[in-house]
Amino acid sequence: MFISFEGGEGAGKTTQAKKLVCYLKASGYRVIYTREPGGTALGGKLRHVLQDSASAVTPLAELLLYAADRAQHVEQVIIPALRAEEIVVCDRYCDAGVAYQGYGRGLELDMIERINRWAVQGILPDLTILLDIAPEAGLARIMSDKKPLDRLEREQLDFHQRVRAGYLKLAAQQPRRFRVIDANRDVPVVSEHILNEIKPLLLSPAVGTY
Ligand SMILES: Nc1ncnc2c1ncn2[C@@H]1O[C@H](COP(=O)(O)OP(=O)(O)O)[C@@H](O)[C@H]1O
Ligand SMILES: [Mg+2]
Repeated sequence: MFISFEGGEGAGKTTQAKKLVCYLKASGYRVIYTREPGGTALGGKLRHVLQDSASAVTPLAELLLYAADRAQHVEQVIIPALRAEEIVVCDRYCDAGVAYQGYGRGLELDMIERINRWAVQGILPDLTILLDIAPEAGLARIMSDKKPLDRLEREQLDFHQRVRAGYLKLAAQQPRRFRVIDANRDVPVVSEHILNEIKPLLLSPAVGTY
């Protein structure tokens, strides 16, 4: 089974993805946590370029760098784990490209879809948890971490609003794959809602048939 977490900055993706991995491990499942960008050695370098606020990256270059990261990540990490019948929990995946470079930057959506599908060899998540939160609230959480903001976190509020609306549109278009969770609640409350979505799938006989 392949689960991705999506959502804006500070929505709680990393917090919740890691909690889910702990829960699944404790329940006896073999599971890996991985993230985009950066789930491979090459990806770690690309992550640095993509997040460095000193990088001047054009929207198209940004799209292609994320796609390069994803291609490496799918081939080296995600496909081998799925073949080994591990549960893959991925902190951001293809939908981020549509939300950020498409709805956020205004690149053509069809082109992004085609590049994405090609980069990931058609491997899509079984379930995508969209952690939805107003950008003001998500960014406030990040600010209170007192770490320097990365290149995307520094974008204007209207960019983050377009990203949020884009994610919600994707979720409405693909309701079988997406679950939208209100992320503006306490960590344990959000976790509980995520588990309520995942538990029925763990019991389903379709899981693990890669
Ligand atoms: N539900 C929540 N309520 C309050 N703070 C949260 C919540 N979830 C995460 N945080 C905090 O917000 C910050 C960003 O969380 P993180 O999981 O890194 O978000 P993301 O990966 O989506 O950017 C962290 O300091 C984290 O501890
Ligand atoms: Mg994160």
